[in-house]
Formats: sequence, structure tokens, C-alpha cells
Amino acid sequence: MWVFAFCAIASNLPYICRTFNQTNMNKFQEYNFSGKKALIRVDFNVPLDEQYNITDDNRIRATIPTIKKILTDGGSVILMSHLGRPKEGPTEKYSLKHLVPHLSKTLGTEVQFADDCIGEEAVQKAQALQPGQVLLLENLRFYKQEEKGDEEFARKLSQLGDVYVNDAFGTAHRAHASTAIIAKYFSPENKLFGLVMEGEVISAEKVLHSSEKPFTAIIGGAKVSDKILIIENLLERATDIIIGGGMAYTFFKAMDGKIGNSLVENDRIDTAKELLKKAEAKGVCIYLPSDSIIADKFAEDANISSSLSNTIPDGWMGLDIGSMACDMFTKVIHESKTILWNGPMGVFEMAKFQHGTKAIAQAVAEATENGAFSLVGGGDSVAAVNKFNYADKVSYVSTGGGAMLEYFEGKTLPGIAAIKE
Ligand code: 3PG
Ligand code: MG
Repeated sequence: MWVFAFCAIASNLPYICRTFNQTNMNKFQEYNFSGKKALIRVDFNVPLDEQYNITDDNRIRATIPTIKKILTDGGSVILMSHLGRPKEGPTEKYSLKHLVPHLSKTLGTEVQFADDCIGEEAVQKAQALQPGQVLLLENLRFYKQEEKGDEEFARKLSQLGDVYVNDAFGTAHRAHASTAIIAKYFSPENKLFGLVMEGEVISAEKVLHSSEKPFTAIIGGAKVSDKILIIENLLERATDIIIGGGMAYTFFKAMDGKIGNSLVENDRIDTAKELLKKAEAKGVCIYLPSDSIIADKFAEDANISSSLSNTIPDGWMGLDIGSMACDMFTKVIHESKTILWNGPMGVFEMAKFQHGTKAIAQAVAEATENGAFSLVGGGDSVAAVNKFNYADKVSYVSTGGGAMLEYFEGKTLPGIAAIKE
């Protein structure tokens, strides 16, 4: 069976909290916002359909406790965010005004809107805000200065509020004007993390530095190249690593398997070999899906069959993990005390290839019910737990995609570092 099991005493690294400390964490709850205007950087980069309906409001709902604490204290709130990657300045498609009705409803308070994030209108509306009121500014990325980290732009934004709260974990890996540069225009006591940021970092630190063993990382998704650094970092911490999704076939090819027309990164075959060797040397068990659901094309109406993952016929491609792999992965997950999940097991957007990802979501939920700590992060795995209704059955669902990945790669995120400085 194509399951590797070099078991496994993972290194017991000392608890080193790289980016946070207790003082940073308690600061928000202890801060009295009464009479203050809090300028909060949130990550409201949410998916919208063609009629501008929000199709996943997880990131908005996550910030409600932060906003409510400030309003309850008797403060007012100025929210700033980006939406998408507009290249041409103000664009209807990327306007944050589309979020106002839903945000008002979710918050239970009418939210005002400024058509620009700096300039006269923003200044006047911010100045006129009364305790208990909320103002949302237009998309920060309508100014190219945002992504450039322009100091003057950051300074103008900073003048809108008395205190800066960074609650945009999803954008913490960007060194932009509103996520990092702006912090220097506030005194140390007036720049702090919000509750989303705190929750994210506490969960991530728990997994990275004080995980109860066995610690299983489930890594999926299409490409090995996106996940090399996270796997390398996890080899230092996890006892078991499950690899699924399209990236698994590069590993099978690295072991001279026949993978038919499955996705493969030929320039990463040596990397896959090296990762397997490192795992062996470190005593970390790597599990690959022994069998796959295969299809004759990448489409909803493909013909499907099943196959061992190392003998996939030509003309066929693996698009989900098979039933033996589901059983094996479920067993490993059930025995775990800490679980990190990033990346789906198959093309779960298509009904025929969703079984593996659903089975993993269920196994993670069951392990959590039995006392394991589970953290799910990364856009696709979060979409999967939402789709299969497991979001409230895992310990923590991250609001970060790229940010979560970089955090688990061991990088320092600029949005976090800026508050600490
Ligand atoms: C995200 O969704 O990944 C964050 O909001 C950051 O957006 P970006 O990748 O466009 O910087
Ligand atoms: Mg991104």
C-alpha cells in the first residue's frame, strides 16, 4: 500500500511565541474606547456574485465582536479595507459600498459610507461620528499608494482616528500602507490588535508551538510548489502529515508511479523526493492516498472509476482520494490530538469528486468532538468546511488564506510586526 509510515517522535520544540506576547493580547479588552474614534483595518475582501451579493461572509462576521466592544465602550468605529485587486482606481465592481446593507444587518447598527478613504468627505464624516456610530471607507486599493506602502497616504489615513486597531489577519502578510506603515503614526498605547487577530494568533501558536501529540497536518490543494515551505516547517513540528489533492501525484511520480494524465509539476519531482527523505530522517509519518477516484476528463460529466494512485491508466486523471485512502486518513485523524488542515483532497467543487474532502471534514469534526484541537485555514479548505456544514464542528476556522500559509511557513507577518514595534 502506498502509505508511508516512518513513525514518529516529533521534535518537542520549546514554546517560543515569535510574534505575540501576553501584553499584546490583553491590550484590546483592557482598552477603554469611550469617546475615542477607532480606526480599524479589517479584511472585508469577501467573494461577491454578479449581483454583488456576498457569497461567504465569514470575514465580516468574524470582526463583529471587535466592533461591538468598541461601540459598547462608547467609542465610534471607522472601518477600512481592500476588496479585490483593482488596477484602475475607483471601479464599481470593487466598491465597498456593496457591503453596507449586509454589514449594517449583521452588526445591528446602520453603517455610514464614505465614497473615498481619504480626502474631505472621509475627514468630515469621521469627524462627525458620534459614540456608537460606524463609518465604512471606500476601497483602500483605489489608491495605488496603498499597496506601495506610501507614507503620506498612511499618514492621511491615520488622521481619521485616535486609535489604530489592526484586525485584518487575512491581509497581515502584506506590508501595505493601512496594514503596516500606518502603525508608526500612533503611539505604542494607541495601536493594538483586534479580537480576530488575537484569536488567529492564539490558535496558530497553539498548533505550532504547544501542540498536544499526535499532531497531524493535512495538506492538500493542486500544487506542491505552493506548499513546500509549509511542509518543511511542519516537518519540525508534526508527527504525521497527510498529503492529498492534486499535489499528491507529483509525489507518486517521484516514486516512479504511473499517474496517467493527473496533475504533475515535473520541476518539483526532486523537491517531492527531498521532502520524503527529510520526513524519513525526522521520523515524521507521511501518508499519501493509496487509491484515487479517476476521471477521463476534468469535468462534471466525466466518466469515473477508481484506481491505485500509482497505476493510473493513460488518459485518466486522479481528481479525488479513493475509499482506501479515506479510511486510512480517517484513522490517522481520529488518533490525533492536534490537527491542522490546509487544502482540499480533491476537486470538491464538482459533486463527483467531493467525497474525499467531505470525509476528511467529517473525520476532523469527529476528532474535535473527542477532544482534539483542530484549525482549518486556507480559502479552499474553509470553503469546503462551510459547504459541508462542519465550520462549527472544528475548533477554529481561520480568516486567512495567504496570511495563514505564511504564518505556518514560519514567516513574520508585516501586519503583526508593525503593532509590536
Ligand atoms: C486575501 O484574500 O488573500 C487577502 O484579503 C489579501 O488579498 P491579496 O492577496 O489581494 O493581497
Ligand atoms: Mg490572496
